Amino acid sequence: MIIEETENYPYELLLEADPSIHKIREYVQKGKCFIAVDQEVVGVYILVTHTSNKAEIMNIAVKEEERGRGLGKQLIQDALQRAKEMGVTSVEIGTGNSSIAQLALYQKCGFRICGIVQGFFDDYPEPIVEDGIRCRDMIRLSYQVS
Ligand SMILES: CC(C)(COP(=O)(O)OP(=O)(O)OC[C@H]1O[C@@H](n2cnc3c(N)ncnc32)[C@H](O)[C@@H]1OP(=O)(O)O)[C@@H](O)C(=O)NCCC(=O)NCCS
Repeated sequence: MIIEETENYPYELLLEADPSIHKIREYVQKGKCFIAVDQEVVGVYILVTHTSNKAEIMNIAVKEEERGRGLGKQLIQDALQRAKEMGVTSVEIGTGNSSIAQLALYQKCGFRICGIVQGFFDDYPEPIVEDGIRCRDMIRLSYQVS
């Protein structure tokens, strides 16, 4: 399995992390897209640099059949390593209040909660519900690169 940069954005996979194709189209232009390839594309993340020392993982997704085997963690570690090489000192990620597994994963990778954007998901065209929880607010987490 290799992780490499691409400009062939795997939209189908990106849509599994963010149902807004408009938002995806905006941030893929601003950032770099990395894919995990194991004969086919099995994972993706988008890293956007906001300032010289601050970056954000805007989207991360693993192909459904490949989940739960450590690939998500590997992609995050890859993003943190690349951010470090770019001189970034803080990497942020945002997820929904209902995304319990994602909140667990990010905290296991060393991210800490740094804020909440109330109502961020309220204007999405279709309501998002996970584990019976309505997704309305974005939980912001940050990782301090040492
Ligand atoms: C989120 C996603 C990228 C994770 O990828 P993955 O390959 O399944 O993740 P991993 O196997 O590397 O890690 C999952 C970790 O979360 C942990 N985890 C998951 N649910 C958990 C829970 N409810 N409580 C505690 N830990 C939990 C697992 O135990 C594992 O940690 P471990 O390795 O220490 O055991 C993947 O599920 C996905 O593509 N989801 C759909 C898209 C998405 O939601 N993207 C993020 C949008 S914010």
